[in-house]
Amino acid sequence: MQLTRHEAATIWLTGHSGSGKSTIAYELERQMVLSGHVAFTLDGDNIRFGLSRDLGFAPSERTENIRRVSEVCKLFNTAGVLVVTAFISPYLADRAMARDIIGHDRFIEVYLATSVQECERRDPKGLYKKARAGEIADFTGISAPYQPPENPSLVVDTSKMSVVDSVAEILGVVAPRLRHK
Ligand code: ADX
Repeated sequence: MQLTRHEAATIWLTGHSGSGKSTIAYELERQMVLSGHVAFTLDGDNIRFGLSRDLGFAPSERTENIRRVSEVCKLFNTAGVLVVTAFISPYLADRAMARDIIGHDRFIEVYLATSVQECERRDPKGLYKKARAGEIADFTGISAPYQPPENPSLVVDTSKMSVVDSVAEILGVVAPRLRHK
């Protein structure tokens, strides 16, 4: 039975901590819901304090976090819900796994290419400062790697573009999925 007016998909935002993933995700969700779609955001706030609260940031733990998130995306998509995800997801192999789990036709990868220098300058949670001081291990961009996507559907640099403009660009890519039936 099909209640929703769109083909379900997962908009997968990837980028450094502080690149604006959650901000963009919630605005994207808000705009899709306002235009009559069922959409939901998954990010660190609702996943890492619940489903993944037993996981840290070692490579194998990030892989497991992304695997769990991907399985949740798959369930939501099967239920007809559009999903926006906001996870650093720094490893190419993990995002390839996400694409495989969610389905290649449903996985829309958006790279928030805001430089780590800019993210560190913003440092909204003060975590870069702590990472520099050696208080946080394996911090992405400081003491752990970030592997940029090789062929994302879209690249957005939030140091050059506003949240509203970034969301509009992403909606442009997603729009064909949102056609009314
Ligand atoms: S992921 O690598 O598994 O995708 P995720 O997006 O869930 O990471 O969580 C990243 C958030 O956790 C960061 O925005 C930051 O607030 C916090 N965090 C805490 N420790 C680390 C760390 N070592 N590396 C990166 N982010 C960390």
